[in-house]
Amino acid sequence: MTSHSYLSELFSLDGRVAVVTGGSSGIGRAIAEALARAGASVVIVARREAELAATVDELVADGCRAAWVSADLSTRDGVRAAAAQAAEVFGEPDILVNSAGINLRPPMGELGEDVWDTTMAVNLEAPYLLGEQFGPGMAERGFGRIIHITSQQAHRAFVQSGAYGVSKGALESLARSQAEAWSSYGVTCNTLVPGFVMTPLNARLSSDPEKVAALAARTMVGRNGLAEDFAGAAVFLAGRASGYITGQSIFVDGGFSVH
Ligand SMILES: NC(=O)c1ccc[n+]([C@@H]2O[C@H](COP(=O)([O-])OP(=O)(O)OC[C@H]3O[C@@H](n4cnc5c(N)ncnc54)[C@H](OP(=O)(O)O)[C@@H]3O)[C@@H](O)[C@H]2O)c1
Repeated sequence: MTSHSYLSELFSLDGRVAVVTGGSSGIGRAIAEALARAGASVVIVARREAELAATVDELVADGCRAAWVSADLSTRDGVRAAAAQAAEVFGEPDILVNSAGINLRPPMGELGEDVWDTTMAVNLEAPYLLGEQFGPGMAERGFGRIIHITSQQAHRAFVQSGAYGVSKGALESLARSQAEAWSSYGVTCNTLVPGFVMTPLNARLSSDPEKVAALAARTMVGRNGLAEDFAGAAVFLAGRASGYITGQSIFVDGGFSVH
């Protein structure tokens, strides 16, 4: 067996269908690209059409199979519509990546119910509803991969964690509940845990060179995260090689969390 066919057996996503929420920006975009380049047909879901179309155009120009669905995941109807439309493109997904997320940062004492509700809807409820939509089908077909993008704030308070940290903590619990429900049917459910990653989500913090340097110094690798740092971990969790890994939180943070 050549090394290429061995690696293919472990990691190739040929023939798989993936849905990646938040696939038009930052970490989600890098993961969508990685899954597509590893062979999956990928549907990305977010609100803004221009960013969605630009991402898909780039992937298709690269020889990948990709499509987009515009939907607002902050409402239950929006999630249901997104799920239905996404499954129409290449069929029911084998891989679901929940990367769409928002971080509104009012301190706890100033947190309004609107911020709480929106944060929970996008960061927690949409991943739950999409899991309910696609998980049972994956279990029936005997293969599935659910990957949530959480945050170090699922584990510790950091820069006004407010409602955001709560939503991410619950998302890690959701992964464990889903893993418990479906792992025996071949469906693994895990989370990737970023540290500080330079994406549009962090535009304000990323534009302060002193803060950026201080955060980089808190890692072991010596730099802040880049969206591309998630490519390998996502392909691994989406493929056959990770079949015995489930219910886990895998930190992709340059050692931030253990320093
Ligand atoms: N960057 C970091 O340092 C960091 C750290 C820890 C965790 N994370 C997590 O990693 C994930 C990705 O973050 P990122 O840094 O890549 O952020 P990003 O670049 O801001 O991307 C967020 C994505 O989510 C989509 N989105 C937001 N609200 C949505 C809604 N209501 N409906 C549908 N799509 C929506 C956005 O597209 P539209 O705006 O067009 O809808 C965009 O595609 C998030 O879950 C975030 O919490 C990031």
